[in-house]
Amino acid sequence: MTVATKISEVRQQVKDWKRNGLTVGLVPTMGYLHEGHASLIKTSVEHCDKTVVSVFLNPTQFAPNEDLESYPRDFDNDKKLCEEMGADLVFHPEVSEMYDEDSSTFVEILSDMPKQLCGKTRPIHFRGVCTVVSKLFNIVTPDRAFFGEKDAQQLAIIRKMVKDMSYGIEIIGCPIVRESDGLAKSSRNTYLSDEERKAALCLSKAVNLGKEIIANGEKNAETILSKMKELINAEPLAKIDYVEAVDGVTMNPVKEIKENTLVAMAVYIGKTRLIDNFSVK
Ligand code: PAJ
Repeated sequence: MTVATKISEVRQQVKDWKRNGLTVGLVPTMGYLHEGHASLIKTSVEHCDKTVVSVFLNPTQFAPNEDLESYPRDFDNDKKLCEEMGADLVFHPEVSEMYDEDSSTFVEILSDMPKQLCGKTRPIHFRGVCTVVSKLFNIVTPDRAFFGEKDAQQLAIIRKMVKDMSYGIEIIGCPIVRESDGLAKSSRNTYLSDEERKAALCLSKAVNLGKEIIANGEKNAETILSKMKELINAEPLAKIDYVEAVDGVTMNPVKEIKENTLVAMAVYIGKTRLIDNFSVK
């Protein structure tokens, strides 16, 4: 496995692979990798001849009041995990390699899609995500790219960007990987104290409750969401940012649950903002 810090090294390597007719998979990450990321890398290795993992803590998707500075980092461990999962190349650039000081071009979806759900509290977030993912697509030129369903709005936005911009890259969504007690794996879980870690279970419990109510035949979004909110509000350390039901493609709110509805939530546990979701099959 090779580690590249320069865009030119990645381009050269990918050019060599493509000359030999090999397919390339890309797994974009911000590092501090866990089993959620590992499952994406494993899926890419299964589907593509060569797998590139990018490890880049992208400043343009963080607002000044967010956790860019404190975001956990451990590149030695990231490298180890990528190697174990069978990745071929890790792209780990400096911020200056990805953004010139006068960099001023952004990729932004102008519909309501990035303004829904997480966009309400993170208005510039998805512009930063689209811009960096677009740059990674241009650098790596993958055949396929792998994203987690944990960030369901991000996945839907990337699919839309790929379609709108004719990227010709196949986007593959991978299921949420959870801790044994149900908490969705996240690099941000490391912020939680022992007490908060227990409280954080209200997210996955609300997911399970929502699924159960729907399985029992309830279709009214308000009824389902209010029961999920009630469960979360019973946890003193939890503060709801949103619990919503939206169309799985457009992210527009829906009143009635149907196939492909996304039920998504963001909840503060103390100062840590966690997300979770499920899609209706
Ligand atoms: P990051 O939070 O590091 O996540 C990288 C990828 O791993 C994303 O596609 C995310 O959905 C997926 N992932 C994280 N936790 C997961 C879990 N528990 N189960 C399944 N997949 C999981 O998302 C980003 O980075 C950035 O926004 C990025 C796309 C890299 C752009 O900077």
